[in-house]
Amino acid sequence: MESVKLGILGMGTVASGLVNIIEFNKSKVVNNLNKELIINKVLVNNLDKERNVNLQKEVYTTDAYEVINDKNVEIIVELIGGINPAYEYIKAALNNKKHVVTANKALIATHGSELENIAFKNNVKLMYEASVGGGIPILNTMRENLCANELESVFGIINGTTNYILTQMTENELDYDQAVKEAQKLGFAEADPSSDVDGDDAAYKLSILASLAFGQKINVKDITKEGITKISKQDIINAKELGYNIKLLASGIKKDNKIELSVHPSFIPENHPLSTVKNEFNAVFLKGNAVGEIMLYGKGAGSLPTGSAVLGDIMYIVKYSDKEAVNNENKQKYIIENKAVKQYYIRMTVVDKPGVLGGIASIFGKHSVSLASVVQKQKNGNHTVSLVFITHESERINIDIALEEIKKSETVTNIESILLVENFR
Ligand SMILES: NC(=O)c1ccc[n+]([C@@H]2O[C@H](COP(=O)([O-])OP(=O)(O)OC[C@H]3O[C@@H](n4cnc5c(N)ncnc54)[C@H](OP(=O)(O)O)[C@@H]3O)[C@@H](O)[C@H]2O)c1
Repeated sequence: MESVKLGILGMGTVASGLVNIIEFNKSKVVNNLNKELIINKVLVNNLDKERNVNLQKEVYTTDAYEVINDKNVEIIVELIGGINPAYEYIKAALNNKKHVVTANKALIATHGSELENIAFKNNVKLMYEASVGGGIPILNTMRENLCANELESVFGIINGTTNYILTQMTENELDYDQAVKEAQKLGFAEADPSSDVDGDDAAYKLSILASLAFGQKINVKDITKEGITKISKQDIINAKELGYNIKLLASGIKKDNKIELSVHPSFIPENHPLSTVKNEFNAVFLKGNAVGEIMLYGKGAGSLPTGSAVLGDIMYIVKYSDKEAVNNENKQKYIIENKAVKQYYIRMTVVDKPGVLGGIASIFGKHSVSLASVVQKQKNGNHTVSLVFITHESERINIDIALEEIKKSETVTNIESILLVENFR
């Protein structure tokens, strides 16, 4: 039987999942491809490390170019992560006319267009399904199955760590710090969780999703981003009382010739499908002008789910490697304008005395922010009280200007939180 030889850069969580699936689903793979997949060479840092895969010692090397320059290898699978040296290795592999599969969101979000151009020039494929949503087949679904649609919006819960933390805060009433510790204990958060909780990881993934959805290169720096570190138990309780769940929502919305992009903790109505996405699960909710609304849901990380997406890309390449590559020119068709015209939830602590609320409401009014509701929450015992405002749709800039003025008032102790209220319009 014919075989296709793979070179794998890295043999950690995802790569070991890939190798194990190739083994336990061998007959499925062979029946589908009519070819066998052989792992020829594997790059690692440490040759002595025990690994959870059944590979001969001889396949391992610490010399990346032994893998990249191996004449028998047709497909390079990059699973080391980070920008460098992965960027150099992928470039070298593509220039060596080898197809490349990667799960590396940071690299694709920052250098994806350049690498796609190099792949096109060399008539090879660069695929990265696993870089967004782990095991969820989202990118290829958008690229292939939804290609008949103009996509109007893409909303996602695309960071499992923050979704786990927020779910634990909601369902088990944990504080933020307790929920982070719990996530770390279960392996859902890194020892330094900042890339997840600050929203960077979700912004990388949104830039990849939105570039594909709207056919235009979206830079990470074009995405307005805020993480979940300031969310308190009180916000979660208030959200629940108002009929919402708080999620870190990545959103890309196209309207006329404009695109709006943000990663922001948001109130999601509890009857919206994205509200049901809990713990480490991910989901992407799309709207196409023909298909309507679709939600794809599943495990956004983990050895086997992510390995499944990587193997799907490898099998696609084996089946369609002779298909002519298409150059997605990624012309700038749309203006990126993040006015964030949304409803907002604002919680603040104020001095408990008559006239304070009226003063705040009139400052909002002065800056064209109209209020949908105001609720006075618990008295805090130190002559202060919590106020919760829900605004009507307002531009974020007007909210910020109003809050700057409100902050200066002697009767306002602190602005505790500002969250989006997402109505999916
Ligand atoms: N983990 C997930 O669930 C998940 C989900 C979606 C996407 N991803 C993406 O998948 C990629 C791989 O993630 P992972 O979790 O599998 O990583 P990992 O467990 O840390 O494994 C990384 C592997 O790369 C090797 N490596 C790292 N730097 C190297 C270098 N400079 N030279 C040679 N070998 C090097 C390591 O070798 P040693 O073993 O010898 O140290 C290790 O085998 C990343 O881009 C990540 O963002 C991961």
